[in-house]
Amino acid sequence: MLNPNELKLRKGNLPIAMITAYDACFARIAEASGIDMILVGDSGANVVLGYASTREIGMDEMLMFVGAVRRGATSTHIVADMPWQSDRDPSTAVMNAKRLLAAGAHSVKVEGADLNVIEALIRNNISVVGHLGLLPQTATSFKQQGQSSEEAEKILTDARAIAQLGIIALVLEHIPERLGYLVSQALPSIPTIGIGAGKLVDGQVLVLHDALGMHPYKVPPFAHKFTDLYAQSVEALKCYVQAVRDK
Ligand code: KIV
Repeated sequence: MLNPNELKLRKGNLPIAMITAYDACFARIAEASGIDMILVGDSGANVVLGYASTREIGMDEMLMFVGAVRRGATSTHIVADMPWQSDRDPSTAVMNAKRLLAAGAHSVKVEGADLNVIEALIRNNISVVGHLGLLPQTATSFKQQGQSSEEAEKILTDARAIAQLGIIALVLEHIPERLGYLVSQALPSIPTIGIGAGKLVDGQVLVLHDALGMHPYKVPPFAHKFTDLYAQSVEALKCYVQAVRDK
């Protein structure tokens, strides 16, 4: 299992492959694939629970997902997203992060650059993965972030600030490839993991349901559908329905 030191060694070396998972079944599949890290993302709000926003998933649901993923993937580094408002202040964040670790996570991911929250987590020996660029919990628009020089500068400044606090990795979502490269260069000992941040970062993360084509909706432009499990599953179940009717 990748620990924080081994993660650092992957910077500029073998790219890190991360995928989301929310249950034991797919965590087991992810682990069997040789994936480096599993993210129990709050994207589970959309792809598993059918909510419209990642803000709608709470701690109880995340704890259930984390426990299930840990039971399915016993030898893979598991990152748990801190759900919306679970990290609203440092002491609440520490309390909730400890619950996520007790449920089976090895680190927690915090959206944005709340320095007080991230500092408190790290001071309490909690490994933190940062997340900058598009921040779905607070976004008002899902367009690419960091296009203007002011926005790009802010992302770079935030990245340096949270890196200095001691995060173990940084997820960069939906930013220009050049900015992904600049942030990666600016953090010499912290791997960057992109989703829509180009290929000049230290690793990639995808939402499992996009990667496996598990829903009938369009995937974001930066996601890649490696298979079409939705169509294959509908066909398989049509065969089952027919088999039942044929007795
Ligand atoms: O919740 C999630 O799946 C995420 C990824 C988009 C990085 O945060």
